[in-house]
Amino acid sequence: MTTTRPSGRQFSDDFLWGSATASYQIEGAYDEDGRGPSIWDTFSRTPGKVLNGDTGDVAVDHYHRVAEDVEIMKGLGLQAYRFSIAWPRIQPTGSGEFNQAGLDFYSDLVDRLVAAGIKPVATLYHWDLPQPLEDEGGWANRATAYRFAEYATKLAEVLGDRVHLWTTLNEPWCSAFLGYASGVHAPGVTDDVKALKAVHHLNLAHGLAGRAIREVLGEDTPVSITLNLHVTRAESDAADAVEAKRRIDTIANEVFLGPLLDGEYPKEVFADTAHITDWSFVQEGDLELIRIPLTVLGVNYYSTGRVKKGTGVGADPGKPGPDGHRASEHSSWVGADEVEWLPQPGPHTAMGWNQEPQGLVDLLLELRDRYPSQPLAITENGAAFYDTVSEDGRVHDEDRVGYLHDHIDAVGEAIEKGADVRAYFVWSLLDNFEWAYGYDRRFGVVRVDYDTQERIVKDSGLWYRELLRTRTIAP
Ligand code: NOJ
Repeated sequence: MTTTRPSGRQFSDDFLWGSATASYQIEGAYDEDGRGPSIWDTFSRTPGKVLNGDTGDVAVDHYHRVAEDVEIMKGLGLQAYRFSIAWPRIQPTGSGEFNQAGLDFYSDLVDRLVAAGIKPVATLYHWDLPQPLEDEGGWANRATAYRFAEYATKLAEVLGDRVHLWTTLNEPWCSAFLGYASGVHAPGVTDDVKALKAVHHLNLAHGLAGRAIREVLGEDTPVSITLNLHVTRAESDAADAVEAKRRIDTIANEVFLGPLLDGEYPKEVFADTAHITDWSFVQEGDLELIRIPLTVLGVNYYSTGRVKKGTGVGADPGKPGPDGHRASEHSSWVGADEVEWLPQPGPHTAMGWNQEPQGLVDLLLELRDRYPSQPLAITENGAAFYDTVSEDGRVHDEDRVGYLHDHIDAVGEAIEKGADVRAYFVWSLLDNFEWAYGYDRRFGVVRVDYDTQERIVKDSGLWYRELLRTRTIAP
């Protein structure tokens, strides 16, 4: 195992430890008990969109293995479990009638978690939009935000205060830009205007849903949103490199932080995108609706990116940026003319993402400075590696242990320096469907044999269990 940071750091007794998953990535049972189709069912069936033509039809069969999976969580000593709810199970067409079997499934899961002493952290949207809503324009259609609030109301009524923390959206950046600009995620649209409309309607959906939950359950109900804030470095102090970084910061981070926490969009984004849209889809009163008190701000962190001014036509569009994405994924307006992503030094994970725990410290300290009274939670952090099962039947994933060790230490350092981080969720509990990469990339601290569905706790899972038991980072 290679670690770059010291061991031994201790965490306080009230720090919450958990792990995370998402419905389409683990559940399978794609057409059972009244579940309707989602955009990922459609997208994964579209040739060439997902590696090896993989789909979430079966995934890791969590839908039928809830009891076993909750036992695994208990065995690991998890205090909290972050899962997502599949909207198409609750409302097969995305509006109107609710599907009792879908509601029962999550109600049962929540009961099992509570009985096991594990706090349920429920995400309402982790990318599986009901297909009928996409057929009406998806997130580019303002009406979707209102449908989302109706869906949220129902879940608040049914799951009630058994849920420890509600998260409206997971990584709206991915939904908007990977879904509607680069099209590498469902629904696979490539339309710059739609991507920006999606940004706004996702922000609006968050505000409406958060308000709806609190209307049902009370003003103090814990509500959050999870963002994948990009940590982007400028190649140098040169003005055009700094400007390249500024462009990514604006389009990736500020378009969410601005309305969610400051009550306005950054003015730079209007200038940067003036040739695309005048943003007239932002209606009067929207910004008031979007900004609601966040019990915690969820932060997902994996790696960093580095940029310089783009060289324009002929620039290599294949160079990956943060999370393996490319500048062009934001769309043509942050294309090769403006920004060029530079390769980051290793070590890299199986996603090709660089490992830079310092990026997490920097991000958390920046949030501390900007929003000193805003509590934070690490809602995802983890790494994909090509694990194998050894002859002893175990998975010795030392590289993942090293990654977790260093990043959890980074969280500890940020806390020591004043960042108000309350929780950490490792991504992921189980190996699962990694979106456009299908089953090829494994993120779990528990291995899943995709043929037999057998689960094996990896060495990283055992290491995590020890961390949770001692609240101290072991070597
Ligand atoms: C973020 C997403 O929320 C999750 O679904 C995904 O599997 C991980 N990152 C790893 O890419």
